[in-house]
Amino acid sequence: MDTKDVIRSCMEECFYNQCIFYEHILDALSEPIVIVDSKANIVFINKAYLKFIKVARKDAIGKPVQEIIENTRLHLVCNTGATEIDRLQKIHGREAVVHRLPIVVDDEVVGAIGKVTFQDVNELNELAKKLKSMEEKLEHYQKGSSILTSPAYTFDDIIGESASFQQVKTMAIKAAQSDMSVLILGETGVGKDLLAQAIHNASPRHRGPFISINCAAIPQDLLESELFGYGEGAFTGARKKGKPGKFELADGGTIFLDEIGDMPLRMQAKLLRVLQNRHVERVGDTELRSIDVRVISSTNHDVKSKVLYKEFRPDLLYRLDGVTLQVPPLRERKDDIPLLVHRTLRQLKSTQSISSEVMKILQNFSWPGNIRELINVVERMTFLVEEPIIKPHHIKSFAPDLYHSGTAKVNDQMNHKGPEWKNEGEEQVTLNDSVNSTEKDTILAALKKTGNNKAQAAKILKIHRTTLYAKIKKYNIEA
Ligand SMILES: Nc1ncnc2c1ncn2[C@@H]1O[C@H](COP(=O)(O)OP(=O)(O)O)[C@@H](O)[C@H]1O
Ligand SMILES: [Mg+2]
Repeated sequence: MDTKDVIRSCMEECFYNQCIFYEHILDALSEPIVIVDSKANIVFINKAYLKFIKVARKDAIGKPVQEIIENTRLHLVCNTGATEIDRLQKIHGREAVVHRLPIVVDDEVVGAIGKVTFQDVNELNELAKKLKSMEEKLEHYQKGSSILTSPAYTFDDIIGESASFQQVKTMAIKAAQSDMSVLILGETGVGKDLLAQAIHNASPRHRGPFISINCAAIPQDLLESELFGYGEGAFTGARKKGKPGKFELADGGTIFLDEIGDMPLRMQAKLLRVLQNRHVERVGDTELRSIDVRVISSTNHDVKSKVLYKEFRPDLLYRLDGVTLQVPPLRERKDDIPLLVHRTLRQLKSTQSISSEVMKILQNFSWPGNIRELINVVERMTFLVEEPIIKPHHIKSFAPDLYHSGTAKVNDQMNHKGPEWKNEGEEQVTLNDSVNSTEKDTILAALKKTGNNKAQAAKILKIHRTTLYAKIKKYNIEA
């Protein structure tokens, strides 16, 4: 071998190594690529293409491209030298999107490259749908909805040091870490909304949306489209483009189904299907849209009784109550009343103070409207009373019920300074007894007032009929 041969052999090896190197690069790409020479014979085909057409490399190299790849036009590109971009090509039953590019050297077509950009145009359709849905969401947000801003409350804002409330708060903090569904039970005004917001804010989904929907406030016939959205032209006069429902808007975040106990049975069935299958179908649209949503629901009804009365689906209840939080009413956490009063005064930037007698009256009231009602009373107090210290006679004028009920109990306690108030161990029992007897008296009064009409009595008492029936049974009331 002379020097020339050695150089040639070195160059050939070098060229060969370089070719191998480029082949490795092309094989590493996920897009199928084929290269043909000027006669449209395959000189290279990458792994992704071989996998796509299910052919071995040895069976493809050197063959005319038309024999290996269905509906190809690379042989025509070799003749015309014309680039073809984003063309549809049916390969193996799939509608692929391809580019065909001539390789031109010194004005001469020496070959062509075929590249598949989408193996199935349906993937593109999916992408387009996702984009469309994102656009719709964006449009919704831009229309002044507060969905994007995270809900206001965190666990730090939730006041309550009584043992019963602390227990609920601890459980809620724990539940926030998981993705389990949470069912918050409790009377009106106990802080169910607040807890739902705090759970979302402390959860891994806190960067996602928090969407709240009050199932009791929306007319039944609108609830379905509010929850699940509607498709194009689903209703006459509906927005032509359709609209996403709350579930779609909550994707990646939390949906808060407030007052779930008031959801009609037909909707309960639909909701159950959505929760089970994790996808929604808009009204008037058959397309299934997958959703990733954490569900928090709340109700002031006794759902278990509702299940017994066949007003609530048990299977839905199982889905909703991964974790149940029973928020105690304010009358069962009287120690929290001073904390809440002072917090409200601070929020109102009031410089007034509340006499200890008034505080006792507040602590002895039954608060059917719970914290919402307490806040309202404190607001009225600071607004109506102009003196620096709020005394009992002030509240007598604007909240006579509170005054009479509260002072009656205070007097009662003074008269019955019996051993039960001194004995710490028995205090809890006495408090419960007193709450129960107040509750029984209130129910009796409501029934008397309505001539034993339970529906009306339940309305006055602001409880559900089924709850009233349960309490009538509990207290052995003859009605
Ligand atoms: N533990 C709490 N600490 C501070 N404020 C509370 C607490 N619980 C409720 N509130 C306040 O009471 C009002 C009623 O609470 P909300 O969550 O709407 O009750 P619900 O949903 O149970 O009817 C709200 O103004 C809320 O800020
Ligand atoms: Mg609420």
